[in-house]
Amino acid sequence: MSAGLEVPEGAGIATPLTRQLGIRTPIICGPLYPCSNPELVAAVSRAGGIGIVQPISLTYVHGHEFRAGLRLIRELSGGRPYGFNALIEASSRTYMDRMRRWVDLALEEGVRFFITSLGNPRWVVDAVTPHGGIVYHDVTELKWGAKGRDGGAHGLIAVNRRAGGHTGSRTPQQLFDELAPLGLPVVCAGGIATGAEMAQALGIGYVGVQLGTRFIATPECRAADVYKQAIVRAEEDDIVLTERISGVPVSVIGTPYIRRLGTKVGPFARWMFKGRKTKHWMRTFYGLRSLWQLKRSSLDETGEKESGPW
Ligand SMILES: Cc1cc2nc3c(=O)[nH]c(=O)nc-3n(C[C@H](O)[C@H](O)[C@H](O)COP(=O)(O)O)c2cc1C
Repeated sequence: MSAGLEVPEGAGIATPLTRQLGIRTPIICGPLYPCSNPELVAAVSRAGGIGIVQPISLTYVHGHEFRAGLRLIRELSGGRPYGFNALIEASSRTYMDRMRRWVDLALEEGVRFFITSLGNPRWVVDAVTPHGGIVYHDVTELKWGAKGRDGGAHGLIAVNRRAGGHTGSRTPQQLFDELAPLGLPVVCAGGIATGAEMAQALGIGYVGVQLGTRFIATPECRAADVYKQAIVRAEEDDIVLTERISGVPVSVIGTPYIRRLGTKVGPFARWMFKGRKTKHWMRTFYGLRSLWQLKRSSLDETGEKESGPW
C-alpha cells in the first residue's frame, strides 16, 4: 500500500480493535462513496489494516456483481479480513430489503466486521452476532453513541469535525471524552493522514483510526488523478461545508465549481427538508442525485463534471 502506513510482516500495534478483528494494525479504510473500489479495500486489508466495502460504490460505480466483488476482494487481500458498510437509515422498503440481502451475502462470504451508519444498528447486530460478527456504529455525538450502544453495537466510530464527507462538530478529544463513559471501544475518524496523527489519536484513548480522504490519494484508488491531486494540494482553509450535495452539511474541497454553486440549499428546499412527509422525498431526491453526480465526477479526468472533487 502506498499511503506510508505499511506495517512489516510480523510487526503490529495491538489494541482491542485489532484483537476483535484479527488484524495487525488498527487502521480502517472507511467506506467511501464513490471511491471504494475493490483494489483499494483489498490493499488496506492486505497491508494489515482493514478495508471496508461500500456496497453502492462496489456495484453501481465500479460495476461488480455483489458476491463476485466480495470474492475479488478476498482474493486480492490474500484472505485477510475486510468489512462491510451497512447504511441503515430507514428509507424505502426496496433499499432496506436490498441492504438486508447484502448483509446476508456478506456473512456467507465470510465478512465479520460491519460498520453501520445512520439509524439503529439493532437489526445488523442481531443478524451478524450469531456468526461471530462485530458491529461498530458511526456517531458524531453522545446522543447517537447511546443509540448505538442501546442497539447492541460492539464499538463506535467517532466522526469528528475534521472528517471528510458527512462531518461531526466536535474535536477528537471532545468527542472521545463525550463517548468514553458509554464503555465501548471508540475509533477516531477525521483528519488523520500521518503516523503522528494516528499516534495522537491512540494517545487520547481511541482503539484505532478510520481514514477516508488519505486513502483516496493512493494508486490503488480508482478516483481520477485530478481529484487525488486536489486532495494532496488542499490546505485546511480550502475545505468548505456544503448542503448542496445531500441536503445536510458535507465537508468538501472548495473547488471553483463548489464555490460557484454556493453552499446553502434554497428557501424552498429548506422548507421541504423540514416537513414531516416532504423531508423523506427530499432526502431520496438529493440522495439519488448525489449518487449519480458523484459517480460522474470521481472518475472524471477533466475535473469539470458537476460536484467536483469532495
Ligand atoms: C468521499 C467520501 C465518501 C465517503 N462515503 C462514506 C460512506 O459511503 N459511508 C460512510 O459511512 N462514510 C463515508 N465517508 C466517511 C469515511 O468513511 C471516513 O469516516 C472519513 O472520511 C474520515 O475522515 P477523513 O476523510 O478526514 O479521513 C466518506 C468520506 C469521504 C471523504
